[in-house]
Amino acid sequence: MVGVIALATRGGDAPTAAQSTTEPIIPEVSEADIAAAAQQLGPRDQELVNIGQTGVSINRAGGGRKYVALTFDDGPGPDTPAVLAELKKLGVPATFFVIGANIQANPDTFRQVVSAGHEVGVHTWNHKDMTALKPAEQKSEIETAAGEILSVGGVASRLFRAPYGAVDPAVLKRAEDAKLLSVLWDVDTVDWMRPSADQIVQSAVSQAQPGSIILLHDGGGDRASTVAAIPRIVKELRAKGYEFATVGDLVISDPPGADDMSSESRSTQR
Ligand code: NI
Repeated sequence: MVGVIALATRGGDAPTAAQSTTEPIIPEVSEADIAAAAQQLGPRDQELVNIGQTGVSINRAGGGRKYVALTFDDGPGPDTPAVLAELKKLGVPATFFVIGANIQANPDTFRQVVSAGHEVGVHTWNHKDMTALKPAEQKSEIETAAGEILSVGGVASRLFRAPYGAVDPAVLKRAEDAKLLSVLWDVDTVDWMRPSADQIVQSAVSQAQPGSIILLHDGGGDRASTVAAIPRIVKELRAKGYEFATVGDLVISDPPGADDMSSESRSTQR
């Protein structure tokens, strides 16, 4: 899509492209514009980028507040609208780690994610194991996906999640070069294996702790069990006194300590 980049319409502080001008807006965004915009950081963006120390991913927030973050990977796809509908009913913000090629295939669904106020993060263009790629390919997988997020959704993401949780020093350096905070998780619901909704609820609720980042999927296959599990996860965690935040809000309000970060991969199949 060619259009006006309204930078950081969600959760950022960068100025919009159309600020302080009465000139007609020229609806052309070059690759160079996108690359430059992706490097532009507002104060909140800078805070997020600074949270990860060099060469680490965060697995959870600091644990000082009874908040958790729900994260949904591998979309946007056919089940994303149902996930959005559940989150809307519950009044829960979430973070979606999106695949660039899926944004290209489902641009309207991606814009629904953004306009609902959810946070988005880069999950690469094609969901390859980044540790098996050459540096130039790693860079391209990240930058093309970040560019698609910006050009279709009008937001500059500051978060990165490696496919399969597979990271090494080179992958973490590529994320850092793109000014992205690498985010993994501490609670894996293993929902990609399509267990029952009961099992997804059980694994999310039993493992959650203050500051947890919970891994779920809205793409990569039939996600009916995940959709069914969402209201029950939220109800049960609320009953235990938990509230919900995006990953960005979670980690800014409750910064991770050294024990909440790692340079290691976290293995998952999706
Ligand atoms: Ni994935």
